[in-house]
Amino acid sequence: MRKYFLVLAFIALVMNAPAQFPQAPATQKQILIETENTALVFSVGKNQKLYQVYLGEKLKNIEDYKGLPNQHEAYIPSGTDNLFEPAIKMLHNDGNPSLELLFADEKVTRDGNLVTTSILLKDPKYPVEVHLNFTAFQKENIIKTWTEIKHQEKKPVILSNFASAMIHWDADKYWLTQFHGDWAKEMRMEESQLTSGIKTIDSKLGTRADFYQTPVFFLSRNNLADENSGEVIAGTLGWTGSFQLLFEIDNSNSLRMISGINPFASEYHLNPNESFVTPEFLFTFSNQGKGQASRNFHKWARNYGVLDGNGSRLTLLNNWETTYFDFDEKKLTDLVGDAKELGVDVFLLDDGWFGNKYPRRNDGAGLGDWQETATKLPNGLGYLVQQAEAKGVKFGIWIEPEMVNPKSELYEKHPDWILKLPNRDEHYYRNQLVLDLTNPEVQNFVYNLVDGMLTKNPKIGFIKWDCNRMMTNTYSAYQKDNQSHVQIEYVRSFYKVMERLRAKYPHLPIMLCSGGGGRTDYGALKYFTEFWPSDNTDPYERIFIQWSYSYFFPSITLCNHITSMGKQSLKYRTDVAMMGKMGYDIRVKEMTEDELKFSKQAVQNYNRLKDLIWKGDLYRLISPYEEERAVLMYVNEDKSKSILFSYALHPRTFGQFSPVRLMGLDSNKNYKIEEINKMSKGWSRFTAEGKTFSGDYLMKIGLQLPNNSDLTSAVIEITEAK
Ligand code: DGJ
Repeated sequence: MRKYFLVLAFIALVMNAPAQFPQAPATQKQILIETENTALVFSVGKNQKLYQVYLGEKLKNIEDYKGLPNQHEAYIPSGTDNLFEPAIKMLHNDGNPSLELLFADEKVTRDGNLVTTSILLKDPKYPVEVHLNFTAFQKENIIKTWTEIKHQEKKPVILSNFASAMIHWDADKYWLTQFHGDWAKEMRMEESQLTSGIKTIDSKLGTRADFYQTPVFFLSRNNLADENSGEVIAGTLGWTGSFQLLFEIDNSNSLRMISGINPFASEYHLNPNESFVTPEFLFTFSNQGKGQASRNFHKWARNYGVLDGNGSRLTLLNNWETTYFDFDEKKLTDLVGDAKELGVDVFLLDDGWFGNKYPRRNDGAGLGDWQETATKLPNGLGYLVQQAEAKGVKFGIWIEPEMVNPKSELYEKHPDWILKLPNRDEHYYRNQLVLDLTNPEVQNFVYNLVDGMLTKNPKIGFIKWDCNRMMTNTYSAYQKDNQSHVQIEYVRSFYKVMERLRAKYPHLPIMLCSGGGGRTDYGALKYFTEFWPSDNTDPYERIFIQWSYSYFFPSITLCNHITSMGKQSLKYRTDVAMMGKMGYDIRVKEMTEDELKFSKQAVQNYNRLKDLIWKGDLYRLISPYEEERAVLMYVNEDKSKSILFSYALHPRTFGQFSPVRLMGLDSNKNYKIEEINKMSKGWSRFTAEGKTFSGDYLMKIGLQLPNNSDLTSAVIEITEAK
């Protein structure tokens, strides 16, 4: 029968006429993966193949799924009848490059809010097993999917494609929202209609997922979804290395989405009985636009995706933009005092504190030699930790443990610990090279560095873990014949080290940093409490960057520091930082009396409201991508408290913004409106100040916000009036 259709298809092709497709095979069985609002439905055809028949809003009656046709095979292998991009490609021991995957078994386990379905597929001719796993987070409406590949052939098979997920979607039109950038230009949002053929968003950087492209996307069906309307899938891959998100529209205008580790330079030799486990692809479906999709992600991330996502975070004063490499014990002790004066929780010592044979005076030397520079810090870190403790603040420390400068003792002692080609010139980026973390000795080195530092100084209360370059000229002395495993093994090894560290230090706050927004993914965030989104701290730029990250990451993870970059008022800089996890990297001593007073008050306001900001539901009300202002608000669970942030960008002179309708409040409650973070005591144009309105009024008529002119801001506290 199949042969007959192939012949028909071939004749149609030759005659240049559209191929007639076989009728969808009849269904034997259905597999439902459901959250509270979403359903992903598979069926098993009479031919034993697995088909995806539905993805969208859950239907009331499960019988209704039964009539849906088996149009799209679920996880399409390469080498048999597939004509488009495959999910998996395998070369067998006998040189046969094909795979056929037939349904063999299904297992469902329930654990409260989590329902995990595992579908086993087997090849009828080769001892190969593929497990498609789906965990449906009921309340958060998130589906996590990953794949395990195994075989019992005599020798290794070669895997050259190994998707975490293949998902089909049907519509007339598809719109992709992607986020791309570069150093200090992270997360620029771009939206476009997908056209026939393949569109790929990927990274080949190895050590970091996000830099030029971020592993996140929105895909809207028919019309481009906006904040509150439209059918949209939001997806992201939890992998800290090279990734691929591929979208292909085929000849019948169907879309397949393939996401996973980037197959680039990563052919994998899979041993018999070894399990190849892909990273997790996470997605949510919303028929109420991107806002709901973000709130789903935020809830999921706090509950499951981020270390201590529902816990607390520390505010801090960092010395990076204040001193760069130029500091000594006295300067740092003064800065500890400044942290105390401001009222923040931590003083964070950044880059430049280590190296003796090659002291770290700039980024050209010392990386890898994690001993305090005696000329800068004669009494070591211990003294600074004590100083901080005496002043009642915690001490935090910067490290970049996966890297090495060629000018370092580490480089001299362990040239074989470095990723570099044996017969070509070394290739530097920020004057450094990547250590070969796939080598267990290097893993121990990294673990011991952190563990040693924390054992010697148990009062260290915060770590900033940096990673300032990608892989180039990649070659591992340790991997020998398996060079195409390096990119994958690197990330796995990174997770291994983090597993070990987290076993001993389960709750120590660690910031994930990578020369700005290089490492922002849910693979790493399992081990980290927060991340540094960009080295660009100019608040105008930052509004866009933070806005874009907020689509996928909760505010509790987004570190925003008030610095001297940009010419905006201190109030504007503070208000922008406050919409996430606020911190400082500024010369406190250079603040005027008013500025210091304002900042101390801002820290107090933040401490009072941080839980609402970190854990409230986010409503993005006006996008900086659409207007010359950005307005957003957070609302707590019982809708008794809310905070609104309003930032004017560069509106035309004498322009007047219209009132903003609030969201997420209770229309039956009354709310008192108060502006906070006020800098000058003078006249305010905020006519709503101190007044009480019903939630109904605020959501249907709205608030005329006080900040209309160039680079001005307002923070409004909204409290239920009883
Ligand atoms: C890059 C980070 O993004 C900065 O905040 C700072 O820590 C530098 N590295 C230090 O080298």
